[in-house]
Amino acid sequence: MAKYVGAVDSGTTSSRFIIFDEKGRIVGLDQKEHRQIYPQPGWVEHDPMEIWNNTGEVIKGALTKSGIKGSELAAIGITNQRETTVVWDRNTGKPFYNAIVWQCTRTHEICKELTADGGQDRFREKTGLPIATYFSGPKIKWILDNVPAARAASERGEAMFGTIESWIIWWLTGGPKGGAHVTDVTNASRTMLMDLHTLKWDREIMEIMGIPARGLPRIVPSSDQATWGPTSESGPLGARVPVCGAVGDQQAALVGQTCFAPGQAKNTYGTGCFLLMHTGHEPIQSKHGLITTLAYQFSGRKPSYCLEGSIAIAGALVQWLRDNLRMFESAPEVEALAGKVEDTGGMYIVPAFSGLYAPYWRPDARGVMVGLTRYINRNHIARAVLEATAYQTKDIVEAMNKDSGVELKTLKADGGMVYNELLMQFQSDLLNVPVVRPKVAETTCLGAAYAAGIAVGFWSGREELYNNWEEDKTWHPNMTEAVRAEGYKGWKKAIERTLDWVD
Ligand code: G3P
Repeated sequence: MAKYVGAVDSGTTSSRFIIFDEKGRIVGLDQKEHRQIYPQPGWVEHDPMEIWNNTGEVIKGALTKSGIKGSELAAIGITNQRETTVVWDRNTGKPFYNAIVWQCTRTHEICKELTADGGQDRFREKTGLPIATYFSGPKIKWILDNVPAARAASERGEAMFGTIESWIIWWLTGGPKGGAHVTDVTNASRTMLMDLHTLKWDREIMEIMGIPARGLPRIVPSSDQATWGPTSESGPLGARVPVCGAVGDQQAALVGQTCFAPGQAKNTYGTGCFLLMHTGHEPIQSKHGLITTLAYQFSGRKPSYCLEGSIAIAGALVQWLRDNLRMFESAPEVEALAGKVEDTGGMYIVPAFSGLYAPYWRPDARGVMVGLTRYINRNHIARAVLEATAYQTKDIVEAMNKDSGVELKTLKADGGMVYNELLMQFQSDLLNVPVVRPKVAETTCLGAAYAAGIAVGFWSGREELYNNWEEDKTWHPNMTEAVRAEGYKGWKKAIERTLDWVD
């Protein structure tokens, strides 16, 4: 009898495999980082083979460490960094080019051309998205336009396009020997190629971008009773386990946080930071710079939608301080440094490394450090780094309140940075609402496990999942309105300085 459900989390910086029991508790885990490849300023790539190999290793690692066998898993789900795009050979499984990562800005010219004819919101009604380098469609186009072997294979019908969940599911279910080529609705909604209303690839946009239909995966629900095939016995699980859950990582966190009702929202503090609010069964168009996207779709049920505020750089800024400026050895040390000072001494950092995402959508923005005086030391910089994440979140919450017409009352938080007390307290102060962390902060993996487990009847439904959610800690606001307003005014001025840096 299968007692557990597993989930692969193929994130921006690492791959993980987590095994959950029926209460949603973690019983096995392994993790491995992969290389970040920066061929030139603004470009970001990953090696897709490294990601697949690491996936196999962490699956085996989690099974070995926990003493659980693959055959004890009722199902597995996949969650992933969204938008990151791979084009590979259907006969050999070899990628034609590195994966182009969501943060990469190389499609700037393609996006400029698309925008020239109809503006940045040209496809918004259909796709919920502004034209931006963030999304996958232009990344596929870039590979086809710049890698002759990919173009030739595409013309022969031998090239497969996909985001990272497509790539992993294809390998897990057999790879060149008949692997399933699928993408779930949440990931498909980030390509700028799917019609949000019909959940189908949009012919008109595909034609405009020159992307042939035959390379695209089949769009499936995020939790699919049909399953996309069992894993092969010779694969890393060593058993035939149904693969039947796939959810982009931010939507997976929404599911893991059990935000199943309209108005419920969560913010995930990872490499980037993503605030999603469930809005019900109809897509709501944003008027304040957010995007409209799929929340999830469970087999046989209507899809659910959400509004999303995407921030490209959050934890990545801490890593930048560690790796590029060598200010400390390990990321958590940032909190001790930041805690040595009461404030940032009037300085701000805006990490517009990939341009600015929501609510500004300015690919031409670049990062700034402003308000420097001789007084500033590394402690102030560390503090400004943490505060930048909270300020970016405030920008999103302001937009979300205006779009939804309701004031956010509490913020459910998750992701790696929620163990940073200073950040969480400052976030609560700045938003003037309580911020809550759940006991299982690995909500991304949990959401993917829930999607897979529900498909095979391991969990009965939402009620059971609600009961699994438990609060761990809540931070309450403790800042005067005057201090809050003064700080935010400075942030807005700093944002102004990031704009129009690139011609
Ligand atoms: O849209 C990008 C997002 O899915 C990346 O998430 O957690 O890997 O930074 P994360």
